[in-house]
Amino acid sequence: FFFCTSFTMLSFHSGSKLISANFARKFSSVNASFTRSLPGKAFVDPKFYEVERQHLLGPAWQLVGHESQLVTSNEKAPASYFAETVCGWPAIVVKSAKTGQVNAYHNVCRHKGGPLEWNNTAGICDLNGLKCKYHGWAYSLEGKLLGVPAFGESCEGHKLDRSEFNLWPMRVATWRGLIFVQALPNTPEDPSKGAPLTGPEANAAFVKANQAFCDRMSGIGGGSNGTNSASSSVPLEEFSFHSAVSHKLKCNWKLYVENYLEGYHIPHIHPELNKQVDMKEYKVLVREGYVEHVSPLPAGVVSSYEGVWLWHHPTLAVNYYGTGLSLERIVPTGPGTTEIRYIYLFRKEAGGSVEEGQKKATEAIAMSTEVTGEDVSMVEELQRALEGGGYQSPGCLSPRHEQGVGYFQKLVREAHARGGATY
Ligand code: FES
Ligand SMILES: [Fe+2]
Repeated sequence: FFFCTSFTMLSFHSGSKLISANFARKFSSVNASFTRSLPGKAFVDPKFYEVERQHLLGPAWQLVGHESQLVTSNEKAPASYFAETVCGWPAIVVKSAKTGQVNAYHNVCRHKGGPLEWNNTAGICDLNGLKCKYHGWAYSLEGKLLGVPAFGESCEGHKLDRSEFNLWPMRVATWRGLIFVQALPNTPEDPSKGAPLTGPEANAAFVKANQAFCDRMSGIGGGSNGTNSASSSVPLEEFSFHSAVSHKLKCNWKLYVENYLEGYHIPHIHPELNKQVDMKEYKVLVREGYVEHVSPLPAGVVSSYEGVWLWHHPTLAVNYYGTGLSLERIVPTGPGTTEIRYIYLFRKEAGGSVEEGQKKATEAIAMSTEVTGEDVSMVEELQRALEGGGYQSPGCLSPRHEQGVGYFQKLVREAHARGGATY
């Protein structure tokens, strides 16, 4: 990558004097061969965030939930739903009880933008119909505007043409229980451009655009080091929704993703986790559209961390550790804020008693919360440093540990370039 190697960072007036401080760094030709990290302003400036929403996040397939969240409490309920936020876009996913059809929409009424349902991630969410919470406009499960109660008969002799105000759809795909959406389908960067917005063809379009990830999750294909063997598939079908936990972070979403993408920091900020990791053997595998951590256990250690740990571009981490599976959604909520929304899934038939299963689930969630807390303290500190302006001349990425970060930043840079955001 080509980067400017000189930045003038501070230039401001104090009284009548111009004070300027030049933090320019010249890199030697030796260091120029290393991959540079992104400059601080890419994590701070709202312009970059908006470019990422339009050119990277909006067109990308992103996990929004799990099919076990779409269940009704009784057989008379016509549909189930959950409402979530996808990178700032409110989303609602609905499933018809009669046909099983899943649709996804922007959870934004076409009248004045009201919500059709409040955000929820509960396990049972009956839906009687899509009706706006603000003035009651009603939509069909297919997104068609059906009714505009008490709106007024006509305006200057014209009746309202409702067909212009159907819900704004997202593309939705279900794959082995996971539900993915694209908030901005059919934009130039949509990898599934032109595919239907729902149904089997949308599901197939998802798989086509995410073939390497799907193969990995299903244990298909083999990596040169044997990690992609069939035995390491993630048995998604054995799991169902247990609970959802959310953490609000004061940092740019990319800092959290990058932190997930390397194990370089483990000995320094995760003392407990570090005991269960052999850093000499620790590897990060970069594949098309995903990055996987491989960490053989130190001899004699029985670990609750053994499993599959991978990131799916751009905002999903899948953490599978035998008894449990967490789907970790990294949800950007603004240039300097992010929400980590965990969906915890546990085995339907864990063996043993319900209490035992519940105890294991509670322990696993407590452990995950502890590690997340350690990561959060660090990435929030990084955000403060970047906002302070002291990191405009970026450092080098470790060729041993940070290839995943380099891969992610390459995809981000390409999106910035497409959106005209320069450093
Ligand atoms: S905003 Fe939905 S009916 Fe008015
Ligand atoms: Fe960490």
